[in-house]
Amino acid sequence: MADLEEHFERTIASDRRVEPRDWMPDGYRATMVRQIAQHAHSEIIGMQPEGEWITRAPTLRRKAILLAKVQDEAGHGLYLYSAAETLGADRAELTEMLLQGRQKYSSIFNYPTRTYADVGVIGWLVDGAAICNQVPLCRSSYGPYARAMIRICKEESFHQRQGYELLAAMMAGTAAQRAMVQGAVDRWWWPALMMFGPPDTSSPNTARSMAWKIKRHTNDELRQRFVDVTVPQARVLGVTLPDPELRWNAERGHHDFGPIDWSELKRVIGGGGPCNERRIAVRRAAHEDGAWVREAATAHAAKRAGPGGSGGSGREVAA
Ligand SMILES: [Fe+2]
Ligand SMILES: [Fe+2]
Repeated sequence: MADLEEHFERTIASDRRVEPRDWMPDGYRATMVRQIAQHAHSEIIGMQPEGEWITRAPTLRRKAILLAKVQDEAGHGLYLYSAAETLGADRAELTEMLLQGRQKYSSIFNYPTRTYADVGVIGWLVDGAAICNQVPLCRSSYGPYARAMIRICKEESFHQRQGYELLAAMMAGTAAQRAMVQGAVDRWWWPALMMFGPPDTSSPNTARSMAWKIKRHTNDELRQRFVDVTVPQARVLGVTLPDPELRWNAERGHHDFGPIDWSELKRVIGGGGPCNERRIAVRRAAHEDGAWVREAATAHAAKRAGPGGSGGSGREVAA
């Protein structure tokens, strides 16, 4: 036991990866499952706010881009559920925990998308914040998670670009289109800053996750980085970020910004956001509508594994 523990500590200390068959402390495994599951749920629930606009996209080109983006998010969910399964978690159980509200997803997806500009602002700010969060996770200590994150980050950067390009097109359009973009920025800016989680002073798990190299930077460090990269982009775009206290601080070499309303984050995480109930209801309906796919896949796998079958894995498939 002491040997195993020492091997684990050495792996972490020397920046090597922990792999599924390696021994790991129970707390590490539980933290990884919770984080990966929450991330997977966020990808899947995150399809909804923009997915609602697929049938209302203004042109064929915009529809093709949006379809590709929303499908990418489904793919991210699939890689991540698979990564969680390498830790012994069961995807059907994780889905059940999401539907019962026992596992969380990112609070940002509980806000509504009111206009097509929201699609652009989600790409620019929400996927932009996700990139800040996720690029360091490519060096996370758990191998399957870190490797999944590499591909996810490449796709996230397409998401961010498509959002920015859409907003640039709208900003070059009519006064009504520019107002639509500004309105969406006003609504999404603060929730995007909340995506990085509570401030370091009230984030009890951060120290442990940093020690295990699951996390590489604190919430406040990542939030600051996001503000610093986003401010110049807002300027080029010609939009105003809704924070009168936002200004460059030459001494710190960073932008200062106004206080975040943490009571709002608490309320939204606790189920009181504008769309929490709808998001789970839509997810539940999709899960129930998809029951026949899971049954068919399971029956097919059993047939292949049966006598005379061509030697399929026989594993149950939870679609
Ligand atoms: Fe994603
Ligand atoms: Fe994305």
